[in-house]
Amino acid sequence: MKGILLAGGTGSRLYPLTATYCKQLLAVYDKPLIYYSLATLMLAGIREILLISRPGDLPLFRQLLSDGSKWGLAIEYATQAEPRGIAEAFVIGRQFTGQNRVALVLGDNIFVGHGLKRFLARATAQPSGATIFGYWVSDPRGFGVVEFDAKGNVLSIEEKPSEPRSHYAVTGLYFYDERVVEFASGLRPSSRGELEITDLNNIYLAAGALTGLRFERGFAWLDAGTPESLLEAANYVSAIEKRQGLKIACVEEIAWRMGWIDDDALAALALAGNNSSYGNYLRSLLLEQEI
Ligand code: TTP
Repeated sequence: MKGILLAGGTGSRLYPLTATYCKQLLAVYDKPLIYYSLATLMLAGIREILLISRPGDLPLFRQLLSDGSKWGLAIEYATQAEPRGIAEAFVIGRQFTGQNRVALVLGDNIFVGHGLKRFLARATAQPSGATIFGYWVSDPRGFGVVEFDAKGNVLSIEEKPSEPRSHYAVTGLYFYDERVVEFASGLRPSSRGELEITDLNNIYLAAGALTGLRFERGFAWLDAGTPESLLEAANYVSAIEKRQGLKIACVEEIAWRMGWIDDDALAALALAGNNSSYGNYLRSLLLEQEI
């Protein structure tokens, strides 16, 4: 399975933070926002990744992530000239995806919680169809909203409904089979001029091929789209990391624990972070396993 990290958009709600810098590279406590979504793909076992962003921002992503080999990944890059919708990722990523199943994660989404890896494994284990994730929010009107029946089957998905049929927002993480490129290519722009991910999901729903999984109470799904939510996300990460002494979305650690890089490679990465608490943390991983 391949993965797409969508990191374009205008970030207009974060102006002037985003006047010169792109949203997904802003700091969430101790690491760039994009690390969190990258970590989610990695925890799903995905190593071949296409990062899509605005042409002017791509050099910065390349500088940060390079070709991914330092973390045992293969990262490619593509541009989205204008924010023409989330589903356009599959049109842009047609060559990359080929005949593979593919996961898409939005570069400003953060998933933190017990059992994330096992939950992701449920999605990657589906041989065909699509999987989306519902998350209970107090006011779902600003989201795609998914309605479930008593058995947990998806009944409907609506984009930003004024009268939501449930409290479950559709999160920015989606898994599709190889038909996704064909389905996305057939989409027409909505009234707001975007290729809508909800339209794509509704194609799968109509074909009886959409699975909806629900994150449980206590799980954290955060996005960092406004100054307030960016600060809240940073505070959340900081509180948990301080309490446990374990990092959230530390991509180097994940690569190492997945067995994609060895001890020497992790030591070299720690050296690059010399002088930082981040580098010290990587070093501590190697020391603690020796005890
Ligand atoms: P949004 O938060 O809807 O849009 P945005 O990031 O441009 O922010 P704002 O509303 O403040 O202007 O987008 C959600 C995520 O999807 C975000 O990571 C950007 C990304 N995205 C794209 O990369 N391309 C697109 O065409 C769209 C619609 C979103």
